[in-house]
Amino acid sequence: ETVEWDPEQAGKGEYDHFMLKEIYEQPTALAQALEGRIDPENGRIALENFEPGTFADIDSVQFVACGTSYHAALYGSLALKQAGVQSTALLANEYSVSAPPIDDDTLVIAVTQSGETADTLTAMRHAKAEGASTLTVTNVVGSTAAREADEALFIRAGPEIGVAATKTFSSQAVMLTLLGQRIAADLHGEVPANLESLLPELEAMPDSLQALLEQSDAKAIAERYENSQSYFFIGRGLGFPVALEGALKFKEITYEHAEGFASGELKHGPLALVTPDTPVFAVFNGVEDEKTLKNAEEAQTRGAPVVAVCPDGHRAVDIADAHLAIPETEPDLAGLLANVQLQLVSYYAADLLDRPIDKPRNLAKSVTVE
Ligand code: AGP
Repeated sequence: ETVEWDPEQAGKGEYDHFMLKEIYEQPTALAQALEGRIDPENGRIALENFEPGTFADIDSVQFVACGTSYHAALYGSLALKQAGVQSTALLANEYSVSAPPIDDDTLVIAVTQSGETADTLTAMRHAKAEGASTLTVTNVVGSTAAREADEALFIRAGPEIGVAATKTFSSQAVMLTLLGQRIAADLHGEVPANLESLLPELEAMPDSLQALLEQSDAKAIAERYENSQSYFFIGRGLGFPVALEGALKFKEITYEHAEGFASGELKHGPLALVTPDTPVFAVFNGVEDEKTLKNAEEAQTRGAPVVAVCPDGHRAVDIADAHLAIPETEPDLAGLLANVQLQLVSYYAADLLDRPIDKPRNLAKSVTVE
């Protein structure tokens, strides 16, 4: 007797989709990414070939990436700016027309899960030809990006099958945060001020994520707001790339209209779209939260339900129509926890609509054409 055995099906284990499996793999993926790379007791970061002093001659950093990796790059770039380093994140497909000046003191960091995205490789090659040092943050050892960049930093997230990137975003953002601390320390000749509090929180991230995954109300939220007209996501500072990522994930797998905005931009146009049929997911990360709350309330006054993504006990919980809870953490990391709640909302919303979650129409896991 033969047993029908579908390797793809088997790979999903107890999960209905790879995407859900990969969302739940995030605590493990992050633990793997951090393994041996942080030493909270001594306040140290150890990134393989990036010894202290590696980046001492750099005067600016440019990140290039596409899609979800671009959102991780924006996150990394903002974190670096906050640490006092001149840095900018650029869409790789716009790089040839929008790149700031490049010289030998420029470090160009290509962020790419697959290491095979044509737009990103083209941008990296352009930067290299102009004399920049290049570094790739990637998941795939032996990928084109890893082979062509001067240096590679691997995120060790394990294979990601779902077309929608989930665990790799979290691992990229965490690795970029670490790398940013290394670069800032080299440039300023001293350890960045918040490293002492950041490292223990980073070490706690896998447990915080596990706690979040075990108690998430994302499914109920997806059900509550099913059949809405559009879905909006807002955030400020490091919450802004998370809002963009929340919307990209949502549109990618549900086929519903979703947009991400900087919280403060809502009143400069998008507010015209807001109705009782447009839920607004507001990400709070402890940075000017009062302003974000005011922006969310402006949407609420126009009838939009507001879903606050923040820790229990946050003031936004009393004002919002619904709440997605995240564990307490550093402001630099809160957005990454919020992002996981938003991944789950997208997943359950797409499941309710019976979409082919792991392989959305018209999309490929790795985009090898420009
Ligand atoms: C993410 O959900 C998307 N499928 C897509 O935006 C992806 O992040 C982008 O194509 C970049 O891919 P890369 O990270 O492999 O370069």
